[in-house]
Amino acid sequence: MLCYARPHRTDRTNHWPASLLVSSKKQSILIPQPAPSMARRAAACAVAVAVALLAAVASSSADAWLHEEFETEGNVRAGYDARGRQVASIVLDRQSGGAFRSRRSYLYGQFSVQMKLVPGNSAGTVASFYLSSGNEPGHDEIDMEFMGNSTGQPVALNTNVWANGDGKKEQQFYLWFDPAAGYHTYTIIWNDRNVIFKVDDLFLRCFTRHADLPYPGAKPMAVHATLWDGSYWATQQGRVKVDWSAAPFVVSYRGYSADACVPAGAGRPLACPAGTDRWMTRRPSAAERGTLDWARRNYMHYDYCADGWRFPKGFPAECSRA
Ligand SMILES: *[C@@H]1O[C@H](CO)[C@@H](O)[C@H](O)[C@H]1NC(C)=O
Repeated sequence: MLCYARPHRTDRTNHWPASLLVSSKKQSILIPQPAPSMARRAAACAVAVAVALLAAVASSSADAWLHEEFETEGNVRAGYDARGRQVASIVLDRQSGGAFRSRRSYLYGQFSVQMKLVPGNSAGTVASFYLSSGNEPGHDEIDMEFMGNSTGQPVALNTNVWANGDGKKEQQFYLWFDPAAGYHTYTIIWNDRNVIFKVDDLFLRCFTRHADLPYPGAKPMAVHATLWDGSYWATQQGRVKVDWSAAPFVVSYRGYSADACVPAGAGRPLACPAGTDRWMTRRPSAAERGTLDWARRNYMHYDYCADGWRFPKGFPAECSRA
């Protein structure tokens, strides 16, 4: 399902169903059209996709560094900051958002980027940095998504882990700084024991592998960045929409690095850069456990393991494990 439709449920988590989260994000360049029925909405979506694809801009040679590493879609600009560092910007306007995706796929690694988010009234917009194995059923994914807000209101960072198509594992945190005032570093450490989300030098969340529970450990994933209109669910559960009079919205990325292994073919070991112990054996230390607790105590906004409405038959098994 390519298109994004609003859920019929009216519960407080209705901005959050996993199915919407993924389908809407994949549709990064779609401007949803209000429509009374799912069917009509789907039709409107199909048209919007076709138009957006036609509008994709051809790259110029100044963009070469970006296109070597990434495929782009929609409004993506390559440029340089005042100190000559490469900056990729995604622009969201009424017609289109944008996305870029690494040409290579990885199996385990440390992925890092500096982002400067949309300033001012970013309500309804969603900027992301995530890994995904693709659109197939049973896909794996590791997400960092920044949910815009009205001027002066806190931006929430949604983190999520998908394994075999199940992604109901969101935890959201408010950031303790203004993420639009300057660049901050966002990092995903993904190894065979845990997925760690980092903001600057601080560990924010650790998703631990349990031998008997699903974990993203078999499917190579590409690195994605997107900026899209998430009006239907992003801000205050969809009540606050994108204010197009403030468009275009711009999010900037720089300092990208993928220190990561790539599959070397069937039956062969992974091809890894030298010194993978930097991240392959990484677990939170006692001090880092402290920052996980600190973030949870002071900044957590949503935790799937505390959402009894969503899991009336009991929480996912990992919720009660250490
Ligand atoms: C936006 O700000 C409001 C008011 O402070 C807050 O309740 C909400 O959680 C914030 N974030 C989002 C994504 O709506």
